[in-house]
Amino acid sequence: MMEIDARLREDVHLLGELLGETIRSQYGDAFLDTIERIRKGAKTARQGSAQGQRQLTESLDGLGEDELLPVTRAFNQFLNLANIAEQYHHIRRRRPDEPEPFENRVLSELLERLKQAGHAPPELAEQVTGLDIELVLTAHPTEVARRTLIQKYDAIAAELGNQDHLDLTEGERLAVRQRLQRLIAEAWHTEEIRRHRPTAVEEAKWGFAVIEHSLWHALPNVLRHTDQVLQAATGQRLPLQAAPIRIASWMGGDRDGNPNVTAAATREVLLLARWMAADLYLRDIDRLAGELSMHQASDELRLSVGVHPEPYRTLLKQLRMRLHATRAWAEAALREESLPDTAVLQDNRELIEPLELCHRSLHACGMGVIADGELLDCLRRATTFGLFLARLDVRQDAGRHAAALSEITEYLGLGRYADWDEAARTRFLLAELDSRRPLLPTHFEPAADTAEVLATCRVIAEAPAASLGSYVISMAAAPSDVLAVLLLLKETGLQRPMRVVPLFETLADLDNAGPAIDALLGLPGYRSRLYGPQEVMIGYSDSAKDAGTTAAAWAQYRAQETLVEVCARHGVELLLFHGRGGTVGRGGGPAHAAILSQPPGSVRGRFRTTEQGEMIRFKFGLPAIAEQNLELYLAAVLEATLLPPPAPEAAWREQMDRLAADGLAGYRDIVREHPRFVAYFRQATPEQELGRLPLGSRPAKRRSGGVESLRAIPWIFAWTQTRLMLPAWLGWERALAQAEARDEGELLRRMREGWPFFRTRIDMLEMVLAKADGNIAALYDARLVEPELLLLGEQLRDLLSQVTTAMLRLTDQSELLAHNPETRESIEVRNTYLDPLHLLQAELLARSRRVEQGADSPLEQALLVSVAGIAAGLRNTG
Ligand code: PGA
Repeated sequence: MMEIDARLREDVHLLGELLGETIRSQYGDAFLDTIERIRKGAKTARQGSAQGQRQLTESLDGLGEDELLPVTRAFNQFLNLANIAEQYHHIRRRRPDEPEPFENRVLSELLERLKQAGHAPPELAEQVTGLDIELVLTAHPTEVARRTLIQKYDAIAAELGNQDHLDLTEGERLAVRQRLQRLIAEAWHTEEIRRHRPTAVEEAKWGFAVIEHSLWHALPNVLRHTDQVLQAATGQRLPLQAAPIRIASWMGGDRDGNPNVTAAATREVLLLARWMAADLYLRDIDRLAGELSMHQASDELRLSVGVHPEPYRTLLKQLRMRLHATRAWAEAALREESLPDTAVLQDNRELIEPLELCHRSLHACGMGVIADGELLDCLRRATTFGLFLARLDVRQDAGRHAAALSEITEYLGLGRYADWDEAARTRFLLAELDSRRPLLPTHFEPAADTAEVLATCRVIAEAPAASLGSYVISMAAAPSDVLAVLLLLKETGLQRPMRVVPLFETLADLDNAGPAIDALLGLPGYRSRLYGPQEVMIGYSDSAKDAGTTAAAWAQYRAQETLVEVCARHGVELLLFHGRGGTVGRGGGPAHAAILSQPPGSVRGRFRTTEQGEMIRFKFGLPAIAEQNLELYLAAVLEATLLPPPAPEAAWREQMDRLAADGLAGYRDIVREHPRFVAYFRQATPEQELGRLPLGSRPAKRRSGGVESLRAIPWIFAWTQTRLMLPAWLGWERALAQAEARDEGELLRRMREGWPFFRTRIDMLEMVLAKADGNIAALYDARLVEPELLLLGEQLRDLLSQVTTAMLRLTDQSELLAHNPETRESIEVRNTYLDPLHLLQAELLARSRRVEQGADSPLEQALLVSVAGIAAGLRNTG
């Protein structure tokens, strides 16, 4: 183990050295010396050296205007390189005496454990085959790195892999080093900040690229491995039809608060996905046509292609022709032209059947070893990705549907839908759903917002069913929110079922989720329109922003429990869709632990979750890492299904009620009730400046106003930059203090021992606290905050130290993460690069607020680079 860690340190060191050489070539020795002085100062200052602190501040103070940008860039790049080394480290070649990583053994070990727990092999095989996990890639604007840089980072990781062979000659080793040097120079000389916001379609293309470069390769490998371990454990193989993991997307479909995602953009993205899928399969089929030159074939295949010396190739050529036609058709449709669609592939079976036929025939003729190679991989892809690559979800705000219906009812002289109570709305919607005459008059010309809602529904109605996932309603509260969408879809011509999914995302709505779904399922007019499971989405990050993480986590848990009970009572299957962000304050954290801490009965072989923004790159950007994460998902969902955690004891639940109530009060007393809180937030953090970072296609705010108008992402992002990380812990200090005052420390410890939900919350909180840093936050205050607000800053930092002390008592440690030295070390290494960035950022913020700067000015650029660097350095925290 030590050996492996030493290799990580070597890699970090090497990349840093090569970056240093690059910087020296551009700016010379003196400049590199300055960087080194800053770095060493930061390092020794962290070890408590007053001299180091002086060296750090003096070096930074001594920087000329024109040095600010390159210094900021240098530290940003160091952090990115450290990330690459760490990411590669997870998948690095293991030497024979080094242990296999957990992710690679998790599934086989789990199957053994399940057998020992009494699950019979046929049952296990059935469970694995029936798993239904859907990962929904979203365009949440948290990915700070440009795509062109990501490609270079991936290439650097690949070179680290090349270097990791023991048998390289001197010349080979030198060549790797030179390639690394060149890649690092390329990255250094590339601007790290996008000049423009990506369009919605560009975001979707980014998602497709992740599929093309990583998931397309990773998924068949994961299924091949699953097949092997399943066979070893149960004697049964993973059937060809099994698709335990699928990919869906929000990119180009999520229009909630994002006016740039229009109906036209969604249509374009759907067509692009078809184009991309056809193109990817063509590459596979070309390779297969080269491979499958065999002559021997089954009668079935011969009958299908006629007499031919190379029957497999003949069949594949037919498929290739249809894929060409499909790609050309999609390309023409993207140009608003139309081509005949007779040969276009419309149904996944048309893609899968010829491949299955080849597979069967090869097996029948004693060529199973050929059948189970590339051909099987292609078949697995066809089953997993299909002709549409990723199912696209649509998301829109409940308020937009209500506004559209109001405009319609007013036009019809029925009054204003928005003014009706829930009973009146439901009555109206159910009657209209049953009605045979159209609701929308032909000459109705709605205002732009309503027209856009209707146009989106039309795009849905026209798209093939298999290209779409769910229609998600954000800020949903009541049954009418769901019925409203059903009606709008019906009125725009949708004649097949579509999953319409309420997203509950405030504390009040989560508390009411069970009763709302109960009422919905109790409506015969709804039940007769529900095909398949009832899908419900849980919003982790907005509920945390609304109520703090203590109360939100408990509300999310209880909502799921109630939904399990309600759906069971109605005899309806439940599919929970988890809207988790990447950072802890937005419900993020390791997926494996998160799934295993779900309420019992809430998983049942099905799991749908978002994978957002930068987490897509971290978890799925490289094929080998993607494989590990996909296997973790498989294992965790299987385990949560077959070995669910025990239901919490009554005393634990009562304790959670108390913690949540105290946490809520602690959080809201500050965030909602403190009269100057918003003013402090605006001054002490880069919240306003973040809006200028062109991260994603959507605006940072839904409307103008205070914290409530801000989306959860910039809210969390801003506090992460200053290291106060307030939203991730605020409320816990009061919750834990009150529990201690009630002398319930022992109870808390028992809960942590015995209840995965509670343990995961505490672990995540500890990680956040280890990365939070009151001293850094104080530097921002000193530079940026008006005197009258300084006291509030001090108060908040005092709360941070209170929660830290309570955490140490609860976990019985003298320092945070004492039980997790690896994470501690990773944070310490990063601090050396982060500290200068924080100091620079506070200074840059002060200057940029004093004198308005042009967007292209070096100062503004340096500010944005500092934001990107800190985000990269802190990864999943905030
Ligand atoms: P949303 O997501 O603002 O798109 O609802 C919030 C988040 O993921 O943090």
